[in-house]
Amino acid sequence: MVTLTINGEDHELDVPEQMPLLWALRDVVKLTGTKYGCGRGLCGACTVHLDGQPTRSCITPISAVGQREITTIEALADDPTGAGVQQAWRELDVVQCGYCQSGQIMSATALLRDNPAPDDAAIDGAMSGNLCRCATYVRIRAAIHAAAEALGQEVS
Ligand code: FES
Ligand code: FES
Repeated sequence: MVTLTINGEDHELDVPEQMPLLWALRDVVKLTGTKYGCGRGLCGACTVHLDGQPTRSCITPISAVGQREITTIEALADDPTGAGVQQAWRELDVVQCGYCQSGQIMSATALLRDNPAPDDAAIDGAMSGNLCRCATYVRIRAAIHAAAEALGQEVS
């Protein structure tokens, strides 16, 4: 048995330790907001947070998670930065098909926690590993700026 802390709750899972975290989340815990894209760490669709750091869950075996806190898109609205990012996503109507978007939002939230007012270069650098077949990149960048502005206003 392996114990994982997911969205603030401990889950005891009877799974092999080499199972990728993505499959534990989707198939065992039934948190299907995190998506499978490439399975090779190349597209970002499977991004979750481990202790707040964006992590590709498709190439992260459960044995590598340890005691770190896993956060998925399902709990992101509980976090002020995550809620701000999701609000900006809605206001700017970022989503097209939606498949990549939970990963995009997880990466954007981690960026804004580290850098509350990123410029375009910082955004492009942080988001370059998150691919979007619908090419919503321009709206993603605009939404990150909007979220940064809104969150900054809330703090001041
Ligand atoms: S599914 Fe994990 S990076 Fe593509
Ligand atoms: S919104 Fe369709 S892949 Fe990004």
